[in-house]
Amino acid sequence: MARLPGVDTLGDLNGKRVLVRSDLNVPLDGPDADSRTITDDGRIRASRPQLTALLEQGAHVVVCAHLGRPKGTPDPKYSLRPVADRLTQLLERQVAFVDDAKRYDGGADIALLENVRFDARETSKDDAERGSFADELATLADCYVDDAFGAVHRKHASVYDVALRLPHAAGGLVLREVEVLRRLTDDPARPYVVVLGGSKVSDKLAVIESLLPKVDRLLVGGGMCFTFLAAAGHDVGDSLLESDQIDRVRKFLDTGKVVVPNDIVVAADVSVDAETTTVAADAIPAGHKGLDIGPRSVALFAEALRGAETVFWNGPMGVFELAPFAAGTKGVASAIADLSDALTVVGGGDSAAAVRSLGIDESRFGHISTGGGASLEYLEGKVLPGLDVLRADRDDVVMEHD
Ligand code: 3PG
Repeated sequence: MARLPGVDTLGDLNGKRVLVRSDLNVPLDGPDADSRTITDDGRIRASRPQLTALLEQGAHVVVCAHLGRPKGTPDPKYSLRPVADRLTQLLERQVAFVDDAKRYDGGADIALLENVRFDARETSKDDAERGSFADELATLADCYVDDAFGAVHRKHASVYDVALRLPHAAGGLVLREVEVLRRLTDDPARPYVVVLGGSKVSDKLAVIESLLPKVDRLLVGGGMCFTFLAAAGHDVGDSLLESDQIDRVRKFLDTGKVVVPNDIVVAADVSVDAETTTVAADAIPAGHKGLDIGPRSVALFAEALRGAETVFWNGPMGVFELAPFAAGTKGVASAIADLSDALTVVGGGDSAAAVRSLGIDESRFGHISTGGGASLEYLEGKVLPGLDVLRADRDDVVMEHD
């Protein structure tokens, strides 16, 4: 990937209108659309430094972002209004909330547009449809800064097409994320250990395939580990299982680099007051679901992590949102956090939220990425449209400045 132009390449921004794409896709909780509260504001906090820097340079900032996956039409459940309120607190200045971008007069120092995914053109597969939305966004600004690392793998109007229409740059968060991920891909310090969890093995097959030749060890937990245990010949009871992936997963086991859990916390139901038992990984009883890795597995994973120089972790080890199934994720997160001399990278929304909600000090990790899907696709070696379009050596995009 060629060099990404930073915001300094945009020249003097005093008095200029700058459209910033941020990733403000935060988890919200609450009974109805009007009383939803943000349960983890990590992405909003991560977006703050670039916004502050632009405001300090005298720019008029218009922020655009998505929240969740609405169906291309306004849906109060996915409104960014609570995010505007949180941003107002964090920036200590009023963030104007703009329901309808077409009627925005550009008057505020900083404004946040309503969820770009309320317009179906944002995510359209049709270049012309996305382009017409990007044209509208481009009229709001003199230049564009992409600081939404978590969305750079999406070829969406506010991530990709708008950069074709305005002088543009990568924001500081995007530059930092890419620099860290480069260290994981270009000659990482060894031993290099990757820890993967999360529920769906099929989402991770491509990244496992591309990572396995490069890593020294791959530790697998979370819902996806049951397909690995089944591939090793074990019964997994009612645990999550993607039987159509067993043959592919068996090939991963054959490399000898994959470490799977040796004990599992099981229960009949996924609930906060579930009665749990810890069983050997090859003795999951029928009628029970595996919902976390057990203490022996945490010790096994900690041992496999010992001495690692580079670690990437994506995906929780169990249903950490429920106390009976949180110990595996907490134990593995702590073992990674203990590796004070290694480059430790936590990739993704869920794992980053797990670190914060389990009360583990974020500063004990080398880097906590704001992008889950984006960081995995980067490690897979895919072209990420939102980064590709910013490249300084592209000649099909606008880069001239006044
Ligand atoms: C994320 O949550 O990983 C990013 O905000 C991207 O969201 P998406 O997967 O809905 O495109």
